[in-house]
Amino acid sequence: MSTKFYLTTAIYYANAAPHIGHAYEIIAADVIARFQRLAGKQVFFLTGTDEHGVKVQKTAETLGLSPQAYVDKIADTFKTEWGQLNITEDRFIRTTEPSHYEAVAKMWNKLLAKGDIYKASYEADYCRGCEVFLNDRDKDEEGKCLIHKTLPEKVSEENYFFKLSAYKEKLQALLKENEQFIVPASRKQEVINILEDIQDISVSRARTSVSWGIPVPNDPDQVIYVWIDALSNYLTGVEWQNETMPFATFWPPDVQVIGKDILRFHAIYWPAMLMSAELPLPKTLLVHGFINIADTKLSKSSGTLVTVNDLMTRFELKTVDPIRYYLMMTTGFGQDGNYTDDDFKLKINADLANNLGNLLNRSLAMLQKYCDGIVPEPAGLISPLIQPETFGTIYADYEQYRFNDALVKILGIVDAANKLINDEAPWTLAKEEKTERLHDVLYRVLNALRAVAALISPVTPELAQNMWEQLGFENDITIANWQQIVETVLPVGQKTVPGQPILPRLESDLVGADKKK
Ligand code: MSP
Repeated sequence: MSTKFYLTTAIYYANAAPHIGHAYEIIAADVIARFQRLAGKQVFFLTGTDEHGVKVQKTAETLGLSPQAYVDKIADTFKTEWGQLNITEDRFIRTTEPSHYEAVAKMWNKLLAKGDIYKASYEADYCRGCEVFLNDRDKDEEGKCLIHKTLPEKVSEENYFFKLSAYKEKLQALLKENEQFIVPASRKQEVINILEDIQDISVSRARTSVSWGIPVPNDPDQVIYVWIDALSNYLTGVEWQNETMPFATFWPPDVQVIGKDILRFHAIYWPAMLMSAELPLPKTLLVHGFINIADTKLSKSSGTLVTVNDLMTRFELKTVDPIRYYLMMTTGFGQDGNYTDDDFKLKINADLANNLGNLLNRSLAMLQKYCDGIVPEPAGLISPLIQPETFGTIYADYEQYRFNDALVKILGIVDAANKLINDEAPWTLAKEEKTERLHDVLYRVLNALRAVAALISPVTPELAQNMWEQLGFENDITIANWQQIVETVLPVGQKTVPGQPILPRLESDLVGADKKK
């Protein structure tokens, strides 16, 4: 079995700062990366920014900046925010890097050499929001873009075209035969429908209308279409342009995480480009839903453009883990999610501050009181809180992107441990000098917490490390691997190091604030 794992996210448009929807996508990808490392894979995780095109050009103009100065600023904002979110990408690619220009030119030359590019005059409606020419099915009765509700721009130019229609049958076969290509499978039908009346696509624009882009090789008056440019980032990311080591090791992508709005580019244009260039196709396009705010689309004008920084400030968070946890716990992969302040506070307080945080706190305090903080030998009177098959089902949940199911099961272990404490009442066992049973209860609970820390670490790495250290481990939890988690237990005689609660309760008077507004 291959041990390499090449994982990508969409690259984010460098025309605005990141919001919680972008954060959702990159967090989900980071959970996959962290889980796959835990599972023993050699992971290459790519993300980055998409920096060319009319939108960026116009935004920079209105701010009085050069496009390069503007995208430098935005790319820095993304990098800083991904750092703050503890994203463990191996490479952050920017489409304005010289290496990317080389890769895009190489891709262009491959398509050309295959005879898939030709020049033609045409007239069509271009939506700047989508960066795409609209067909009738993409427009409403007034001729507006269905997604952006704006009138497209009439474009009449002589451009280069890509023979997309020549790949129609091959793409249909790919969708039919490859169950893993689009996950979840419920997203497949919309691609099949679009493929029905697929036409060749324009893959360049006149430099006079779009100056901010990569020039067509040997025709500097034309600029390469942004989606050809953007999709090629997945190749540049592993150095395809000079075919060095990362490409040889990692190509093709194992999982490409994308939002539902950009599926057609990834499920049609992208594999057709790769077929034309005779490159292996990605194994899975993993398609997520959208995060809304109080059931409203994220938008600046409606005041719902929530960012990670907003939440950090609003709740005085010292770690981003509650945000990571909330987004992964409340939105099943592939579904749309919904954020509200109330729900966030209630969920974080209930699951992380109370159930998990208090369990660690009170069990370490009891261990301190009854055993001088040293892990006692279990007598084996009480059966373990985690059954071997539980590890397997949590593994399968992570592996199949059911992060919320994994978290529900992990929290289930926490509930069982809390119940054991309440049922057995260690304080009574101590009073009655039932030492063996007391040691058993404490051991079972702390050993379960060891497993919980490791199992939850892909989602909440900082909280997991904190728990790990309080349980007396001195190493970095990220070097744990799945085998070790399953096969080893909390060492008897280990000295625990109780500390502050891993997560203070979020201010209770903030609860209900949404309703008061
Ligand atoms: N630049 C293109 C992608 C090129 S990939 C070769 C793009 N950029 S984007 O910034 O608009 O979107 C980047 C990703 O963020 C997409 O996968 C998109 O679906 C995702 N999201 C944007 N808003 C979102 C939400 N509100 N919720 C969840 N994901 C969202 O498209």
